[in-house]
Amino acid sequence: MDRLDLFPISAKIKNDSLTIAGRDPVKLAEEYGTPLYLYDKATLEASALDYKKALALHYPAPASVTYAGKAFLCTAIAQWTQAHGLHVDCTGEGEIAIALAGGVPREHILVHGVNKSTNDLKSAIQHAGTIAVDNLTELKRIHVILSEAKNLSRVMQDSSVAMLPQSDIVLWLRLLPGIAVDTHHAHTQTGQHDSKFGMTREEILEAAIFCRNNNLPLKGFHFHQGSNFRDASPLKAAIELGLDLAKEIGFANDWHFSPGGGWGVAYHEDELPQPDTNEYVRVIAENVIEGCKVRGLTLPHLHLEPGRSLVARAGVAIYRVGAIKRRGNKVWVLTDGGMTDNLRYAMYGARYSCLPVTGVGRERSEKVSIAGPYCESGDVLIEDLPMPNIEEGELIAIPASGAYHLAMSSNYNGSYRPAVVWLEDGKASLIVRRETADDLLKRDFGL
Ligand code: LLP
Repeated sequence: MDRLDLFPISAKIKNDSLTIAGRDPVKLAEEYGTPLYLYDKATLEASALDYKKALALHYPAPASVTYAGKAFLCTAIAQWTQAHGLHVDCTGEGEIAIALAGGVPREHILVHGVNKSTNDLKSAIQHAGTIAVDNLTELKRIHVILSEAKNLSRVMQDSSVAMLPQSDIVLWLRLLPGIAVDTHHAHTQTGQHDSKFGMTREEILEAAIFCRNNNLPLKGFHFHQGSNFRDASPLKAAIELGLDLAKEIGFANDWHFSPGGGWGVAYHEDELPQPDTNEYVRVIAENVIEGCKVRGLTLPHLHLEPGRSLVARAGVAIYRVGAIKRRGNKVWVLTDGGMTDNLRYAMYGARYSCLPVTGVGRERSEKVSIAGPYCESGDVLIEDLPMPNIEEGELIAIPASGAYHLAMSSNYNGSYRPAVVWLEDGKASLIVRRETADDLLKRDFGL
C-alpha cells in the first residue's frame, strides 16, 4: 500500500507535490508558519459517516457516536461535532468549557475521567447530560454535591442559585472488565485487571446499591479497554461481563451501554490497510444483541466513543527541516517541531511515516531519523524511515497526526504550540492560532 493512504482522503500528488483538500502546504506554511497542523474536513466527515452507517446497518435500537474530545478538542471541532449530531466525551471542566464554547448542548456532553475533582463534578452536573462514574468515592461526592444543590435551591427558592439541577443528569458506572486488548503499548491499555480505571464487578454492585438507596439516576454502564487496537474480539468477553451486571442490577427499559472507543488507525505503511470501522461496529452490535437476547434484556441505547479513528487521519503535521546531521549510520533530519507537539514516539514508541511536501516521487534512497529542536534525546518523531535525500529548508508532512498530538502538547523549552488550520473544499481557515510569548507569560506574575 501507498504512504499516501495514511494521509487524509483529500490528499493528492499534483506535479510531484502533496496537496490536501486542493490546498498547497507550501503556501499554507508560508501563511501560517511551521510547525503547522492541518485538519481535513472531508476525512472527518467520512469517518463519522462510517460509524453512522455501520450502526444503522448492525444495531436496530437507538445508538450514538460520541467523539472522545481527549483526542483533540477545540471550538471548531466541537462545532463540527454538532453539525453531525455527535455526542462529546469531555474529561473534566476544561474540556467541558471548550465543548460549551462550541455549542455542544447538555444532552450531548458525557463526562469521563478518573478521580474527577469537585470542580470537574460540579461542572459536569451543571453542564453535562451524563457522568460516567469511575469509583465509589466519586459516586459519594456526586451524591453530596447533588444533595447540597437540592437543599440550597429549596432554602433559597431562587433559580439562579439552583445551578446544579438533579433532574436531567444521568449516571453510568465505569466497569473495569479485567480483559486486555492489543494496543501495541502498555500505556494505552486501560481494561486489564490491575488498571487504575473503573470499578471491579463487586464495586459496581456496591455502587448500584448506593444509587438505589440514594435515589441516584443510574442508567447504564461503560468500559474502555484500551486505545489503538485493530482486533475487536476481546470486546466480546467484556460485553458479556457488562450484560451480566446489567441483568443482575436489573436494567430494564431506557438503559445505556458504552463499550468505549479505541478502534485503531494506520500510522505507518506497514500497518495498511486502515482498520475497518464496519467490522468493529459489527462485532460490538452483534454481541450486544445476542447477549441481551440470551439474558432477556431490552436492547440498550448503544454508545460508541471513538476519538482516534474519527480524527487521527484527518490531521497532518507540517514541519520545516532545518539542519541535517550524519552520525555513523544515522541521518538526523532536524525539524522545527517534535515532542512538544507530538509526544507519541517518546511515550509509546509510536511508528510514523512521512512524505516530503515537494519532490514526492524522488527515490527513497536512504533511511532517515526525524527529530525536533528540543533539549531531550527522546525528542524524536520518526526513526530510520526510507526517505529521499531531504534538503535543508524543505517541508515534510507527517500523516495520522490528528489525535493525541496537540491534545498532549507542551511548552517545553518555551516552545509555542502550533497553529491549526481547517481545510474544507479548497478553503483554509485558521481555527487555533500559534502561541506567542505573551501566551507563555499570561499566567506568570513574577514575584
Ligand atoms: N473513551 C474513553 C473513556 C477513553 O478513555 C478514551 C481514550 C476513548 C474513549 C477514546 O479512545 P480512542 O478511540 O481515541 O482510542 N494518548 C494515547 C491514547 C490515550 C487514550 C485515552 N482514552 C495515544 O496517543 O495513543
